[in-house]
Amino acid sequence: MPEKKEKFYLTTPIYYTNGLPHIGHTYTTVVADVIRRYKRMRGYDVVMTTGTDEHGVNVERAAKKAGVPESEYVAKMADAWRALWDELGIPADEFIRTTDLKHVRTVQWLFKLCRENGYVYKGHYTGQYCIYDNAFVNDAKPGDNCPDCGRPLETVTEENYFFKLSSFQKPLLDFYKKNPEFIQPDTRRNEIISFVEGGLKDLSITRTTIRWGIPVPGEEPHVFYVWFDALTAYLSAVGGPEYEKRGLWPADLHLVGKDIIRFHTVYWPAFLMAAMLPVPKQVWAHGWFLMDAAKMSKSKGNVVLPRPIVNMLGMDALRYFLLRDVVFGQDGNFSYDALVTRYNSDLANGLGNLASRTAALIEKNFAGKIPKPGALKPQDEVLAKEAQNAIGEVLENFDKLSFARALETIWTVIAAADKYLTSEQPWALGNSEADQSRKATVLWTTAELLRIVTALSFPVLPDSATKVWTLLGQSVVLGKFELDGLRWGQLGPGTSLGKSQTLFPRVDKTEAIERIESMANEELNPTPAAPAPAASAPTATGASAAAATAPAVSDKIGIEDFAKVEMRVGQIKTAERIVGADKLLKLTVDIGTEIRQICAGIAQYYEPESLIGRKVAVVVNLAPRKLRGVESNGMIVAASVGPEGRPVLTAFLEEVEVGARLK
Ligand code: MSP
Repeated sequence: MPEKKEKFYLTTPIYYTNGLPHIGHTYTTVVADVIRRYKRMRGYDVVMTTGTDEHGVNVERAAKKAGVPESEYVAKMADAWRALWDELGIPADEFIRTTDLKHVRTVQWLFKLCRENGYVYKGHYTGQYCIYDNAFVNDAKPGDNCPDCGRPLETVTEENYFFKLSSFQKPLLDFYKKNPEFIQPDTRRNEIISFVEGGLKDLSITRTTIRWGIPVPGEEPHVFYVWFDALTAYLSAVGGPEYEKRGLWPADLHLVGKDIIRFHTVYWPAFLMAAMLPVPKQVWAHGWFLMDAAKMSKSKGNVVLPRPIVNMLGMDALRYFLLRDVVFGQDGNFSYDALVTRYNSDLANGLGNLASRTAALIEKNFAGKIPKPGALKPQDEVLAKEAQNAIGEVLENFDKLSFARALETIWTVIAAADKYLTSEQPWALGNSEADQSRKATVLWTTAELLRIVTALSFPVLPDSATKVWTLLGQSVVLGKFELDGLRWGQLGPGTSLGKSQTLFPRVDKTEAIERIESMANEELNPTPAAPAPAASAPTATGASAAAATAPAVSDKIGIEDFAKVEMRVGQIKTAERIVGADKLLKLTVDIGTEIRQICAGIAQYYEPESLIGRKVAVVVNLAPRKLRGVESNGMIVAASVGPEGRPVLTAFLEEVEVGARLK
């Protein structure tokens, strides 16, 4: 019988639906995904929950502004959040929405347990409330602004149900003492302990002024206050009242930003203790990503979006940067400059270069098969030792969630391998038996090192590590590879190298930043765009989208409508691929009166060189637009063929003059 795997249940916060994810939210979710992948490679059965926090005044107001019912508004937003996580390759195992019925039932059940155990009573509350953060601000006076977001507080008096948080001062302090790992990092634990030592006030957990919330059964118009509702989502996601069946509760790790640590380490364990339910094992609070030293928020207009970065540099680059540049737990500044610098130095010149160099040398010298090493020299052994030692160090750092350290160790080994190759110069060795044997040793050593760093970096770089793993001819699925079995010396001579794929093409920093910013701008301030025509569409599906919106056959247009489209013969002067846009080519086209830059979605079907000098039909009076951050001023006409909409460019059978109008 196979041994049953140990479970590991981790969560991200459930995010508010009054905005879309920025880099701050992406950070928490990326970290959760890295831990999920890492723990799986250490043999755990891992479940990760994320979701959306959908109740409260903010949503009421946003829905009203949008002119739709709250339920419709949140459904759309929850879809958008879920879709973005999917698109970024970090989908949840469990995605919980606080409007899910199973969540509603869990919150009502938790309340019932707390009440039955004598920890809930009815009273009145007057306080200063921040409607943006959904929190009363203790010690604030009327007229004060919110200490977190700086916006005006509102005075609120209402009948509430209260939770007897004051009864939990001692149980919580005892719990922290018995479980010193519960609050991480240590500095946060100390903060929370002094906060609890200072005394706990009872907590209002229902509202009568809010309509959009989970009803307190038999006590309408009371609805649950946001934190009693939101925190419970972690439990609803894995069984709620039937949590024992699923066997995942208590959570092993709640990942949160430092802004919400108090709710997770004071309120949440107290609610659970009151209901006599198991308390989570650990809450880890990370710092904030700051933009110009301020917390990112849409209201401040300083948000960084994940999608443009991913389009330009790839998801792995973003993941690497988020984890490498900031010590987990501390605040960090986000800058595009630092991001692109890291990308070029560590990914393009570091891992990417080592992989392509090693593979090319093995291809050339050993017909694409991993060579058998000969006698070892001291420098080979030094490198082997360094890589072997790195394994333990990296695992230890991943265990402590010291991601920056783990990556630093991996990249130190990569740098050592680079240096080793440069000094051993296998390319300069001849064909004598001794030289061949030396070449084999050096290349096997480098490839083995590459295998080790690839396995270790998989949790952070899942796409690119998989590519390198395939390149090294490894057949085990990397995400399922058990890191506990990773040792120096396992790379089998004779293994055929696999397919080589683009890893991290170098980018020009200024151009990359310009394009990321321009894509972010497009996303934040979308302009209603005309349906994307075939050849200028960034994806082949753009063609079918255009077809789908084309007028029905009976909707004939008049000649005057057709005359609005100015089409001319153009000649392609230059053509190049665009980093971060697999389907697009950037062309310069002579249209007779001027040379235009035009993007065309034909990169998968036409080699850039084959297009130079070719004459094509061009729509020249289209409004300019940006595709993946690159300006496109016109459209190349192409037929859209087959179910995939393969573009086929126009051609002229007779000589035509550049600039001639198509009528
Ligand atoms: N809905 C509550 C959480 C309820 S959990 C039971 C909430 N939502 S939120 O949308 O505001 O997301 C907060 C979380 O997003 C933070 O705790 C943090 O994990 C992440 N971040 C939001 N902005 C951030 C930065 N600028 N930097 C890093 N992480 C940040 O609070």
